[in-house]
Amino acid sequence: MKIGVIGSGGREHTLAWAFELFGHEVLVSPGNGGTSHLNQFDLNVGHNSFDLVVIGPEQPLADGLADTIRSKGIPVFGPNKNGALLEGSKSFARDFCKKHKVASPENITFSRLDEALKHIEKTNGPWFIKADGLAGGKGAFPAENKKTAKEILLNLMEKKALGKAGNIVVIEEWMIGPELSVHVLVNGNSSPKILHFSRDHKRRFDHDKGPNTGGMGAYSPVEDMNNPKSESLLKLIDPLVKNSINGLEKDNIDYRGVLYLGMMLTKNGPKLLEYNVRFGDPETQVLIPLMNGDPAEHFLKIAKNEKIKQNVKSIDKAALTVVLADNGYPEKTTKNIELIDPGMPKNPEPGNALVFHAGTKKQKGKLFSNGGRIFNVTGIGKNLNQAKSIAYAEINRIKVEGTSFRNDIAVNIK
Ligand code: GLY
Repeated sequence: MKIGVIGSGGREHTLAWAFELFGHEVLVSPGNGGTSHLNQFDLNVGHNSFDLVVIGPEQPLADGLADTIRSKGIPVFGPNKNGALLEGSKSFARDFCKKHKVASPENITFSRLDEALKHIEKTNGPWFIKADGLAGGKGAFPAENKKTAKEILLNLMEKKALGKAGNIVVIEEWMIGPELSVHVLVNGNSSPKILHFSRDHKRRFDHDKGPNTGGMGAYSPVEDMNNPKSESLLKLIDPLVKNSINGLEKDNIDYRGVLYLGMMLTKNGPKLLEYNVRFGDPETQVLIPLMNGDPAEHFLKIAKNEKIKQNVKSIDKAALTVVLADNGYPEKTTKNIELIDPGMPKNPEPGNALVFHAGTKKQKGKLFSNGGRIFNVTGIGKNLNQAKSIAYAEINRIKVEGTSFRNDIAVNIK
């Protein structure tokens, strides 16, 4: 197949790598240092000859790029604009959850600052405050006390720290519990396939300290939560998945792509933290190497609303990824740090380390940083412990001055 991959992060490098591994011709728009050996294509004119286009990030989906490409008869992996609203508007997502009985934290939407401040004054925190619009993974804020909550609201709604993304905010109940990333391949809503569970580590520093980021590391599969095995975990989260998929159907949203349900397992059961309408980053860097079969064939079926008959999950290995980030990420990123070139990612066999590029660029044969998250170092193992040792050995090898990583990805997994 000739496949176009849209995006420039670690997720897109992983997708392009997997498609190449299965012998497909891959073009990128725009790609990064890890895909510099591939041809680029122009989004406006270049997609006419593709057998499949895979849209990685949320912004082009929210802007309706899938609708545009699909209208030309090209199969697209990624939802149309109406489906992308589940991520593009947090208030839309909360209304959807209410309507379709998807268990969620208590939440209220505000479009006026004075009313949001009044709500903080008369309720007891802590709260989680979310900008309604897209903010590149930087729009959700934990607020432990009234002072912090009010500062966040002022920043978003008055000072417009995130532009129009913060015109509307959703104030949510603060929940406690382990997080779970659930990725579901949705083909026109009829026969969804749930991938391996994974877990992201969103805070910048060890022990979940520091600001929220796009994700500093992830691992899969996840079977340790409250000690249930996958089967019982699957049963536990099933109503959230089913009600979401049925909701799409009831609302006439012909969703073709991956729906990512970010959940928290609270003592009152699993609750939906957020929907994402694309693969998680860095979850992709563990999920794709754990896929069974050719991901491009699976995605083509999704794009064409056909049933995937094959099992999409490999059962005999685990993956763990650690993000090498600029020291200033997420607040202030220095670019142009010269990097050690880790070489092309190997096959996803137990014992191997696969380094996926995120914020990198190649210039005159040298590799430089070009963003806050630089590399995703994925270890593949027969179990998570082996995957962890491999990932950490490799990240220690390629770490350079000015970069850092979390030391506690899957720390409790033995
Ligand atoms: N890793 C979280 C996300 O992709 O939204």
